[in-house]
Amino acid sequence: MSVTRHGPGAERYIGLRRLPPCPSPRLNEFRVSLSAEFAPPPGLLHNAQPMLTVKTISELRHWIARQRGTHRRIALVPTMGALHQAHLRLVDVAHEHADCVVASIFVNPLQFGAGEDFESYPRVLSEDVSLLESRGTDLLFAPQVTEVYPHGAQCAARVDVPALSTILCGAVRPGHFGGVATVVTKLFNLVQPHVAVFGQKDYQQLAVIRCLTDELNFPVEIVGVPTVREADGLAMSSRNRYLSAPERVRAPVLYAVLQQVGQRLREGAVNMADLQQEAVKRLEQAGFRPEYASIRRAGDLAEPTVADAALVVLAAAWLGRARLIDNLVVERVKPESGT
Ligand code: PAJ
Repeated sequence: MSVTRHGPGAERYIGLRRLPPCPSPRLNEFRVSLSAEFAPPPGLLHNAQPMLTVKTISELRHWIARQRGTHRRIALVPTMGALHQAHLRLVDVAHEHADCVVASIFVNPLQFGAGEDFESYPRVLSEDVSLLESRGTDLLFAPQVTEVYPHGAQCAARVDVPALSTILCGAVRPGHFGGVATVVTKLFNLVQPHVAVFGQKDYQQLAVIRCLTDELNFPVEIVGVPTVREADGLAMSSRNRYLSAPERVRAPVLYAVLQQVGQRLREGAVNMADLQQEAVKRLEQAGFRPEYASIRRAGDLAEPTVADAALVVLAAAWLGRARLIDNLVVERVKPESGT
């Protein structure tokens, strides 16, 4: 058998050994056994064929129909591109839940407000294609805006998740979560995935998507992936590339502040307003322009009561021209009293 793979992990393909044939010719090609020390990065062995990139809905539908015809389980990983290791972790997790993985790259104008970074959002498609290929992605859907919104981005039909869309990030970015909900609904209808994978880094976005999936009865399993961080704690984000070198050094303070609040909650602090104000003050002292720091109930992002043990601390803050968001889930011992 001859196997030629390029890119990260390729050098680890020594130790391949042929196994008895299996019924699917596609699986057969890569039916190999690897000793643990030579295990490839997750996902790398899934793709026996080069990744296909399609830009139109008709090509996408055609491919999906073929997969569905062979009863393959499909996972969807929606992104806006400028991919980093966290996006690739989502692809790896998607492989664990399905037979084939569809990624999408679409900078969705509907979720950007006036004056936000829609125009300047990094678009690096060829780099993204290589990264997705290296993780065994089967299909990339990378449409133009006119393909997704043929009647203009101010489309007449939209999806709204009102209760979750007007708080926290939704309060400072009106219309943002409606834009996210609309494009994710479109992607669900186009790809018809069995499972869709999202990051917990965008905690409120994940809550919006879980809610719309449930309320609009999409037969899609939503998988949330824990936040992937740089070594110093900064949550990975495509927008981190907006940080200057000195800002990048200060950026991990955001997560450090969330951890401090989490620690206080675990120690029994009950005055949420004080904790939130302290967090905002610490961020300001570190040179951030905080939009909010908030402690919410983990399940539904409502204001917590004393009875709630599962909490999430969320914050959004500007550092230079980068708007950073992060969150930390905290399980506290239920306090005896207080607010
Ligand atoms: P984007 O910011 O490209 O993120 C794509 C997916 O990657 C989202 O599910 C996001 O939560 C996840 N992600 C980003 N950084 C992460 C990190 N550090 N750890 C874990 N997951 C991370 O989110 C969007 O695009 C868009 O709003 C989208 C859902 C594609 C709709 O347009």
